[in-house]
Amino acid sequence: MPLVRLDKYISERTEHTRSQIKTLVQKGKVTVDGVIVKRSDHKIDDVSADVKIGGESVSGQKFRYILMNKPEGYICSTDDHDGRTVMELIPPEMRAKGLFPAGRLDKDSLGALLITNDGELAHRLLSPASHIPKIYIVKLDRPLDIKYIDIFKKGLKLSDDVQFLPADVKIVENCDTLAFIRIHEGKFHQVKRMFEAAENHVQILMRVSLGGLVLPETLGKGQCMELLHKDVENLTADMDFEAFYDRFSAIFSAILINK
Ligand code: URA
Repeated sequence: MPLVRLDKYISERTEHTRSQIKTLVQKGKVTVDGVIVKRSDHKIDDVSADVKIGGESVSGQKFRYILMNKPEGYICSTDDHDGRTVMELIPPEMRAKGLFPAGRLDKDSLGALLITNDGELAHRLLSPASHIPKIYIVKLDRPLDIKYIDIFKKGLKLSDDVQFLPADVKIVENCDTLAFIRIHEGKFHQVKRMFEAAENHVQILMRVSLGGLVLPETLGKGQCMELLHKDVENLTADMDFEAFYDRFSAIFSAILINK
């Protein structure tokens, strides 16, 4: 019987914050299996509990949304024929039926990867029409020729006529072989192909943000965390690239410099 805290159970299924849940519980608004529960750290059965807030059920089939900090050496697949998959890294307590990686990072790529069993959300994230922003940090072979910042901004076209949507690039201050790139699509090996076309080569690639969600600094390599309702909503949000750079560039640059 998988036991979880009542506040965690509710926050995974509703938009209430932990403090709102605490207040609701203290006010006697929350029942578990018909009985008022007065402590938000009360442990309940994640599968069978019938939880109501003000008489409204919040139970039911819950989708799982797992954010993984993918390490290199694992493929984004549920099929292990071609080697170790990211699915092996999911801790037992987070496993659920139907989980799959919603998006692809190459075997040698790192960083933010969503694993879910919510097909509808995965479709929204991956559909070519959705244009959800993704930010990567890359370590390059040599400093990027700055003329490519403008070319990427206008939409790079490869010699085989493949056209990429406009992308933003920022070269890291004090380290000209590191750059952040924000793209709004997910073509095969897209980031590597873009820098290849810019007469360069990506040595290390790490995805640091998906939609409006930033890979938490505290999530170690190979670790997973379950996303809360508000974080899931954030996956399809936009991200201000300049604000992202100002706030997070030092953190992610340090990770790549130390690799
Ligand atoms: N672009 C790439 O080239 N590789 C990845 O893993 C992700 C984006």
